[in-house]
Amino acid sequence: MSDKRPIGLLDSGLGGLTVTKEAIKQMPDEDIVFIGDEARMPYGTKTKEQITEYTRELVKYLISQDVKVIIYACNTATANALPTLKKEFSIPMFGVIEPGAITAARDTKTKHVGVIGTQATINSKSYSKAIDDIDPKIDVLGLPAQEFVSIVENDEANTKRAQKIITDTLMPYRDELYDTLVMGCTHFPMLKSQIRKALGDKITLVDSGVETVSYVRDYLKMNDMLTDSKGDAVIKLHATGGIKEFERLAKEWLVGTEVDEISLVDLGENK
Ligand code: DGL
Repeated sequence: MSDKRPIGLLDSGLGGLTVTKEAIKQMPDEDIVFIGDEARMPYGTKTKEQITEYTRELVKYLISQDVKVIIYACNTATANALPTLKKEFSIPMFGVIEPGAITAARDTKTKHVGVIGTQATINSKSYSKAIDDIDPKIDVLGLPAQEFVSIVENDEANTKRAQKIITDTLMPYRDELYDTLVMGCTHFPMLKSQIRKALGDKITLVDSGVETVSYVRDYLKMNDMLTDSKGDAVIKLHATGGIKEFERLAKEWLVGTEVDEISLVDLGENK
């Protein structure tokens, strides 16, 4: 048995492409539909209610595209909307927080884990709770790094100003006690070299997206839901706004991947 339908991924913006890239790498034969809500990003500064409402619209859109599962390639939506929306939709939906928490708890030797995320993710304490459920002896220091999202979206990663903001924000993790840092926002792997510059090579950086994709791949395999098509995967990327800039940065990030479609989507019909 197999399932040829695409895998759906959602995010507020470009960050979800770090997860999409990983999905293409780990499951190269699967069709992909990604949607980034550029028109309403960032989600990290919004209320739980707003984030849930916006995410619900993205989920409806992906369902209208006949996807077989949905990956929340967004920590903010995972923390704030996934528990509610799981009760509303029967399609299998996967968030990025649990797999990231499991990896961090496994990797830390000093039992001191840092978590950076958007304001809304840090406020939700989702990572602290998830890590505490696995091992209550682990000390978690969560810090908001909302500005990192704008740095990525405005394509400023390689500026001095950005490096200063990143280095200043991460200062508390220069304490050697912290041997593991969770990049608890899918935009942040796009700043990996700047984060490394601020913290050095010793700290383990956890990319929740990578762990989530492995988890979803195992799920699809176990449930006979992987496609049996070979070599002709269709990749479609959609955004709700700012399509020109989205297209430019998406192509840059996914260089080497054949993307079949990048287009603007109006969520109006799926509300
Ligand atoms: N990429 C998102 C996350 O993982 C959200 C960024 C934002 O919209 O604030 O949390």
